[in-house]
Amino acid sequence: MASFNVGPLPGDHEFGAVVTGLTADMLDDPKVRQDLTDLWVDKGVIVFRGVEGLELQIALSEIFGEPAEHPLLVGIKDQPRTHHVIADINYAEGHGDLYLINGEEIGGYLPWHFDLAYVNKINHGGILRPHVLPNRGGQTGFIDQITTYDSLPQRLKDEIEGLEVIYTYQTDSSQAKFGDRPDKCLHLSPEIVRAASHPVLQQRAIHPLVYTQEETGRKVVNISPWHAQGIVGRENAEGDALLREVIDFSIRPERAYFHTWEAGDMVLWDNWRMMHCACGVPSGEQRRMGRTTISGDYGLGRWEHAEEDELV
Ligand SMILES: [Fe+2]
Repeated sequence: MASFNVGPLPGDHEFGAVVTGLTADMLDDPKVRQDLTDLWVDKGVIVFRGVEGLELQIALSEIFGEPAEHPLLVGIKDQPRTHHVIADINYAEGHGDLYLINGEEIGGYLPWHFDLAYVNKINHGGILRPHVLPNRGGQTGFIDQITTYDSLPQRLKDEIEGLEVIYTYQTDSSQAKFGDRPDKCLHLSPEIVRAASHPVLQQRAIHPLVYTQEETGRKVVNISPWHAQGIVGRENAEGDALLREVIDFSIRPERAYFHTWEAGDMVLWDNWRMMHCACGVPSGEQRRMGRTTISGDYGLGRWEHAEEDELV
C-alpha cells in the first residue's frame, strides 16, 4: 500500500514535520494511521500539504482522537458554523478582535497559549484548515515545550519541579498578566465577550507547570502565557517573577516556527505539548480558518475548588 512522505519543517527546528503525498484513501490503512500517530507523538506538530476539504479534515482528526465540540460552543445555536465539531476562527474588517501592535492595527491576533488552559481538561490537539487567506500576515506560530524544557538552565528545572499554575479566561489579551501583550485593544468580538460569561469560566483552573509525556518519558514545560495568573501558593512578587522568567525563556523567538499558510495546507498539533499563537492580519485583510478540537484529557488539570469538576 502507498504511504506518505515525511520531511522537516522549514528552518532549523528539533520538532515538527511536513507530510506530503497523503490521500484520503490511505487513511483506512492501519499502518498509515499508526505511523501518523507515532509521528505526532514524536514531533508535536505536522504540516500536511496538498490536502483539501472538511471531510478529510475530520477524517484525519479522527486518527488522533475523537473530534469534539469546543466546550465554550456547546449549546450555542445562533452562531453560524461550518460543522458542529469545527470552531470557526474568523477575522474580517469590522468583525473580530482588533489590537494595536507596534503602531499597526492587527486583527485576529492571539498571543502564545495552549488551548483550554482555563478549564480543567485540556483537549489533545486540533487540526487547522484555511478557508480565506489574507494577502499579508496570518501566520500561526508553534513552540515545542519539550525542547524548551531540555534547554532550561538546571536551576530553573529544579525550581519549577512540582509547581502548579493558575489560569483564567482572558478576553482582552492586552491585559494579560504574562507573555507577549498587544499594546492596546481596539475592539473585541461579541462572541469572545459572550464566552467570558460562560458558567465554567467563573472558576480558576490549575495545571502542573511540568509534566512527563507518557509515551516517551520526556518532560514538558506546561505553560500557557496568555491565561496564566500565578503559581499556586506563591501569588506574590517572587512567584510572579519566577513564572515570568520561565515564560520569557519559553517564548524566545528562536524557539518558534511560524507557519505561512497556503491553500491545501492543514496543520495538526499536540496541544499537550505545543504552544501556539496567531500573528494576526492587517485590519483591512480577511482570514478565516476552521479548527477541529481533538478530545482527550491528560488527567492532570483541576479546578481550584473541586466541586466545579462536575461542570465540564
Ligand atoms: Fe489556540
